[in-house]
Amino acid sequence: MGTQTALGANLRDRASTMFGAIPGETPEIEGNTLTKAKVELGKMLFFEPRLSSSHLISCNTCHNVGTGGHDYLPTSIGHGWQKGPRNAPTVFNAVFNAAQFWDGRAPDLAEQAKGPVQAGVEMSSTPDRVVATLKSMPEYVERFEKAFPDAADPVTFDNMALAIEAFEATLITPHARFDQFIAGDETALDEQEKQGLALFMDKGCAGCHTGVNFGGQSYFPFGLVTRPGGEILPEGDKGRFAVTQTASDEYVFRAAPLRNIELTAPYFHSGAVWSLEEAVSVMGSAQLGTELTDTEVEAIVAFLRTLTGDIPSVDYPHLPVSTAETPKPSD
Ligand code: HEM
Ligand code: HEM
Repeated sequence: MGTQTALGANLRDRASTMFGAIPGETPEIEGNTLTKAKVELGKMLFFEPRLSSSHLISCNTCHNVGTGGHDYLPTSIGHGWQKGPRNAPTVFNAVFNAAQFWDGRAPDLAEQAKGPVQAGVEMSSTPDRVVATLKSMPEYVERFEKAFPDAADPVTFDNMALAIEAFEATLITPHARFDQFIAGDETALDEQEKQGLALFMDKGCAGCHTGVNFGGQSYFPFGLVTRPGGEILPEGDKGRFAVTQTASDEYVFRAAPLRNIELTAPYFHSGAVWSLEEAVSVMGSAQLGTELTDTEVEAIVAFLRTLTGDIPSVDYPHLPVSTAETPKPSD
């Protein structure tokens, strides 16, 4: 028992230095003051299907806050039932990632939010159409004025993105059992989960999956030691290479954040792997050149399940009624 406590305390110190707990309060965002009016507007916009040209697709379609902040699909389905190239990551705790997307091509959530609205395979709209849509509904105009009181022209595409970012900052999941453990509750993790945490650090997973989100901070080749097959790592998606045009960035991706990972199958940017055990085992061979034993995989997975926090309760917002000026849905 004495040894276990010693292992626990030592483990806790190492883990709190390497990772850290999700804060209980919404974090601040540089350059985007969070007010109640802005967060509420951002929530409406997050659920607003009229930001898409079909009037069918909202952010919540692919980042469903009722199902872990993602869509349970290998790769997302967007405008005109088109299949996108990548798996949708969760929006939960995305505010803690150093950069957004599997390849980190958006520096922050506000920049990120402008992408899907315009992407042909996602919402297929344009900034002008979005602004015309929002300006056609007096309640939105009023809410933008309240959320951006100093702006001469509050209803803009950029302000839409800032409001969505403000709402997304509230989508954090504190109080996971792991967080309780590093806060000092020795009993929050059982022995197998503690073994899993120790393995996660000792085998080298934590070398890439670090920080409060257990990832989301830096980039590594997927297949550092052994390249997975084309089904898991499709040849056509070269990851960060598309962002930097640098040969050494071929097949380089952001170390995926692992908070709430049990809620977000299927795994990898290809969404090709449905079981967390298999994903862990692929990581062992692809990234570490190690064949993890079944017992090791089970312990690591047991530990990863302790990263599920309190899921935010989001009241579904009432959205303003369309007017004669609201652009009609189009293909
Ligand atoms: C990525 C938010 C609409 C599918 C992301 C990320 C965020 C986000 C924060 C990055 C998460 C991370 O990197 O960890 C939003 C917002 C939307 C929106 C605010 C509305 C304005 C959609 C829609 C779809 C979708 C409608 C599906 C049709 C995806 C996919 C990715 C992604 C596939 C990964 C893309 C890549 O890495 O290249 N989204 N999303 N999103 N989202 Fe959305
Ligand atoms: C993805 C766990 C080691 C870099 C993932 C995923 C899991 C995971 C579960 C999938 C996340 C998702 O789909 O949302 C682990 C475990 C490890 C480990 C348990 C130790 C056994 C590493 C190492 C590196 C790394 C050492 C860096 C050299 C990455 C990258 C991705 C990823 C880049 C994204 C892959 C993609 O593009 O689909 N990891 N990982 N991981 N991990 Fe690891």
